Amino acid sequence: MSVKYIESSRTFKLDTPNTTYMIGLADEPGYIGQVYYGKRVNDEDLNYLMRTNEAPFIPSKNAREKCSFLDTYPFEMPCAWGGDYRDPAFEIRTVSGHSTCELVYESHEIIKGKKKLSGLPATFADESEAETLEIKCVEPDLGFHVILSYTAFSDVDIITKSVRVINDSADTFYLERIISAVLNIEDTPAYDMITMHGSWARERHICRREIPYGRSSSSSTRGESGHQDHPFLAVLEHTATEDSGNVYGMSFVYSGNFLAQCERNQFDTIRAMMGINPYGFCFKLLPGDEFTAPEVVMTFSSKGLGQMSRNFHDVYRKHLIRGEYKDKKRPILINNWEATYFDFNTEKLLDIARCAAVCGIEMLVMDDGWFGKRSSDNCALGDWFVNEEKLPGGLKYLAGEVNKLGLKFGIWVEPEMISPDSDLYRAHPDWAIKVPYKTPAMSREQYVLDFSRKEIRDCIYERISAILKSANIEYVKWDMNRQLADIGSICLDSDRQGELFHRYCLGVYEMQERLINDFPHIMLENCSGGGARFDAGMLYYSPQIWCSDDTDAIERLTIQEGTSLCYPVSCMGAHVSVCPNHSVGRNTPFETRGYVALAGTFGYELDITKLSDEEREMIKGQIADYHRYNDLIREGDLYRCESYRENHNYNLTGVVSKDKKEALFTFVRVMGIPNSHSRRIYFRGLDENMMYKVEGTEYYLSGAALMYAGFNVTGLWGDFNSRLIHLIGE
Ligand code: GLA
Repeated sequence: MSVKYIESSRTFKLDTPNTTYMIGLADEPGYIGQVYYGKRVNDEDLNYLMRTNEAPFIPSKNAREKCSFLDTYPFEMPCAWGGDYRDPAFEIRTVSGHSTCELVYESHEIIKGKKKLSGLPATFADESEAETLEIKCVEPDLGFHVILSYTAFSDVDIITKSVRVINDSADTFYLERIISAVLNIEDTPAYDMITMHGSWARERHICRREIPYGRSSSSSTRGESGHQDHPFLAVLEHTATEDSGNVYGMSFVYSGNFLAQCERNQFDTIRAMMGINPYGFCFKLLPGDEFTAPEVVMTFSSKGLGQMSRNFHDVYRKHLIRGEYKDKKRPILINNWEATYFDFNTEKLLDIARCAAVCGIEMLVMDDGWFGKRSSDNCALGDWFVNEEKLPGGLKYLAGEVNKLGLKFGIWVEPEMISPDSDLYRAHPDWAIKVPYKTPAMSREQYVLDFSRKEIRDCIYERISAILKSANIEYVKWDMNRQLADIGSICLDSDRQGELFHRYCLGVYEMQERLINDFPHIMLENCSGGGARFDAGMLYYSPQIWCSDDTDAIERLTIQEGTSLCYPVSCMGAHVSVCPNHSVGRNTPFETRGYVALAGTFGYELDITKLSDEEREMIKGQIADYHRYNDLIREGDLYRCESYRENHNYNLTGVVSKDKKEALFTFVRVMGIPNSHSRRIYFRGLDENMMYKVEGTEYYLSGAALMYAGFNVTGLWGDFNSRLIHLIGE
């Protein structure tokens, strides 16, 4: 049993294989507090941790100090304006304009398995894999209810949390803030926080810093998770490393505006929270209405950041990613974007496909520019009709010819957008998100469609599904190339405009759900100007996401390292492209580009017809590597051993099979160093007592020797050089 109610102490105990999350009830009036989250403990009464018997904080016996109590109590769902001065997780406004509220325990239910979240992506588990606790709270004076849902997984150290508000009162109110998960952490010893930041072409760079007093956050108001910040937060002991120390991780299964925040207060306790960004959010709840806030996936690791990441990877691979490709090797694709940009036609694509087929590439993906009058990025989004001038005979002919060469065929779409210069916009200028008194701001010369409106989603869906039915299309890259601004929908009442961001996100989810249900054989890859919507929400619909438009092997070390904090390598879209690299102008060896892409989904983004014979031969070798190693890469455990971000010159990451019998490490030395001897590297994740053959060498060493004594990498010459090291255990 992974979830228990212990009557004698009025506590709920949620156990995963190595962790315990404990919730307690304050006797009066029934506040719900977080007793403990950490390494697994026995079924004991830990309620003393709540300090409800420590003066001056005894709520029932010390009414004159209620504010002091509220301001220190480790609330599961802290409410606004009652006397807890830390940032709340829950805030409403009544029609009379008041906001004070509180939530107290009313009842609970323990369920086997896990319920679906209506309209939202979420992890899933069957009755043998998880148990769920639902605590029903009530606002005693206003009468509405809030359900706090926690799921404890039995096969991985993960607790998930989501929240549902049920307005079963007689009054309307406005939901101003609903944060899905809150962690209360005592500040002994000092804690750091990790968030991820970046920009276009350099997404998800790791940022670690000590948690200062006050509030420190990472957030998005862009209508998507964004290039700039990321819906992930780790809170870790100051001394924690990759393989030691206590680490809490929080990841949001949501693709819209988010807030990830730490607040350190007067007593050195930390309130970490994650949820929908309250800025710009307000949801009207009429009597009878419900609102479900998205899920936060939480993990605790007492073995450092590496274990935190592996917990996330396991839960996302097993309990979030769906569909035919969930556990399957993905076809090696070649995408024509960097090869041709908008300048292509059927013949050019077939030339690429012919060459690709000879090398063993398995799928051709036709990127942006195949529809309407689109020959640059300034027009035609929304006109989802094949441009027969470029592609005579349409997609049926093209896909047929590609298939004849033995390749699958896929296409790019950007369904959420509308170009002002499009037939769609000329017919429906009111379909774009905008406010009535301003010309909306353009970005990449495009507007965003109001996906909160069903008729708009239906129209776009029909157009795109007609295309998908018109030919043998086996892959779709769903792109989103601008962020939201001028937030307004003509279909929402004045007191509902604050719902648009969330309704938009739900609209995107609804359409992707429809797509994967209607076309279960199509492999969907999400994308947003590179990796601006690389989040757990999107993973529910697509087994892989384009990581970044930056395919430079060296920049990718940093991007893929950050991404790996939370997401498995099996979902990281990673391609080999040409040099000088189109984003940074850097020249790196073809071999290194291959090794770095191999540590992701693997594919090509170049004009293969223009490569040298030698490079094409190398592609054949890379493809053989992919077939040889991909099962291990997709299914194994990831170990980050050395970070170029920290030591400025060396990167070592590897994947070790679950049974420890096989491992593949990628070593990259960034700059060549004159007059230097070999570099000693130290592997991680091996079995100390197993003997490993270092493939391609005469070395046969124990896991202990390879991890603790190390291994010398010799013979690297030049900048950006690399080695792939394959270990076979016996
Ligand atoms: C975005 C994507 C690219 C490419 C272009 C097409 O930038 O990230 O891979 O598809 O759009 O316009």
